[in-house]
Amino acid sequence: MEYVNLDKTEGYKALQEGKKSSVKELLTPERIKAQSIKLGGGLNYNWAAMPISEETEGKLQKLSDEMDLIGKYKEILSGKMMNPGEKRLVLHHLTRGNVLGVKVEADGEDKDEFYKGELKKIKDFSEGVRNGSIKGSTGKEFTTVCQIGIGGSDLGPRALYLALKGWADGNNVKQLKGEFISNVDPDDAAAVIERLDLETTLFVLVSKSGTTQETLTNRDLVLETLKNSPIEGFVPSKHMVAVTSKTSPLAKDASMLAAFFMDDYIGGRYSSTSAVGGVVLSLAYGYDTFAALLQGAHEEDVLSTEKDIKKNGALMDALIGFYLRNIMGYPATAILPYSQALSRFPAHLQQLDMESNGKHVNRNGEKISYPTGPVIFGEPGTNGQHSFYQLLHQGTDIIPLQFIGFRKCQYGKDIVTAGSYSQTKLNANLTAQIAAFARGKDDENPNKEFDGNRPSSLIYGEELTPASLGALLAHFENKVMFQGFIWNLNSFDQEGVQLGKVLAKKVLAGCEGDEILKAYADFLI
Ligand code: F6P
Repeated sequence: MEYVNLDKTEGYKALQEGKKSSVKELLTPERIKAQSIKLGGGLNYNWAAMPISEETEGKLQKLSDEMDLIGKYKEILSGKMMNPGEKRLVLHHLTRGNVLGVKVEADGEDKDEFYKGELKKIKDFSEGVRNGSIKGSTGKEFTTVCQIGIGGSDLGPRALYLALKGWADGNNVKQLKGEFISNVDPDDAAAVIERLDLETTLFVLVSKSGTTQETLTNRDLVLETLKNSPIEGFVPSKHMVAVTSKTSPLAKDASMLAAFFMDDYIGGRYSSTSAVGGVVLSLAYGYDTFAALLQGAHEEDVLSTEKDIKKNGALMDALIGFYLRNIMGYPATAILPYSQALSRFPAHLQQLDMESNGKHVNRNGEKISYPTGPVIFGEPGTNGQHSFYQLLHQGTDIIPLQFIGFRKCQYGKDIVTAGSYSQTKLNANLTAQIAAFARGKDDENPNKEFDGNRPSSLIYGEELTPASLGALLAHFENKVMFQGFIWNLNSFDQEGVQLGKVLAKKVLAGCEGDEILKAYADFLI
């Protein structure tokens, strides 16, 4: 498979020389109806309000074919070494199904079997906890699960946990309460521990490497609290399980109730469908809920193999995102879910996208000359409307928007006030925003004028369920992966986070003669 820089392709040249279209001139009711692509889990991706004419769409298809983006995805799926920085395979898709049905072997084992084996362990353990056959050390049933981890070992699982809370309530699903500790700031752990009943809490310590400073510090802090518990008969080791890789120091820690494994072929930010998300979600909502999420993700992975960009939502989203970044020159993208359940989803996508594609060298480590991943940020609507939307509507930068919305709410506790349900008001706002951003508004007073032409896409569906959530997650994972191929990046390493970690250690060791570090440390330590 050939991996070339974007600026060496015919397709990029053709797009640069092509006519740029405006959203205002393109947007019609017919286009809104026609420009939807089916995603997994009953979702749809609509790109009617994007500055993509039929001509541009044809050019994006050509670029996709020229760069063989689908071929590259299939290389990942078939277990090729696709993380050259760390010389690793990239196997997160396999945690939710075998898309190509090919055997993937590494380290002398069948990886499909390995992930299935871990899933079986998760199923048995979570069922044991939920049916009360596995209890806390004082004989009480567990009612709360508290995950300790950071980055990919926190953001995805936490976002997914929150996303399913209302669905579980609305469907009378038996629940264990979920709590999360991530920051090394002691106030994070203190605030969570304060509201826990230790006798009925099961901690899930999650770290792929088993060496992350924040996570090990929080583990020690929690263990100290557990050891100091005055409760008679309380045994800390009966209240903590680990999720890690077999080669990490945590894997050898005998003082855990159980251990579940992922491996080095699952990047932290892509690990939500591995044991990293599986243990906490199966404990909180039941294994069947997690299995439904995996099924939705797998469905989306299968759809993502389609070559025709009009049938492949993740690929289309990736190509449009690249067009907005490299041809239109837009620096950021906002993720705007009109769903409170997705309150932490933008934060997860921030890591997923920016840690994957925030790179300035290609897969061979050579500097590249074109822009890569955009800045990602976001908040749920309508809260965002009363905050940063001012800049989105009238600021001097154009920020492309990714809206997400559902017809139905999750809890089913909605009432009619002033003639409409809250859910209707929510979606009326979403509808209004898409039109306002696209069309703008003329006014004699420039302060009240809206230029419009602000592009947006919409992912929509009936309801946020485990299956649609899984598909939504996989959609963005695959979008980011395709964009990495377009920019010829290694989207699966993260060297950019290392320097700060090294310097923090140096500060803790007394700054080792580094005067700049010392001067700042004197303010704070
Ligand atoms: O600091 C970045 C990072 O390496 C992320 O990529 C990862 O998700 C996070 O740290 C946590 O890593 P671990 O699971 O090994 O503790």
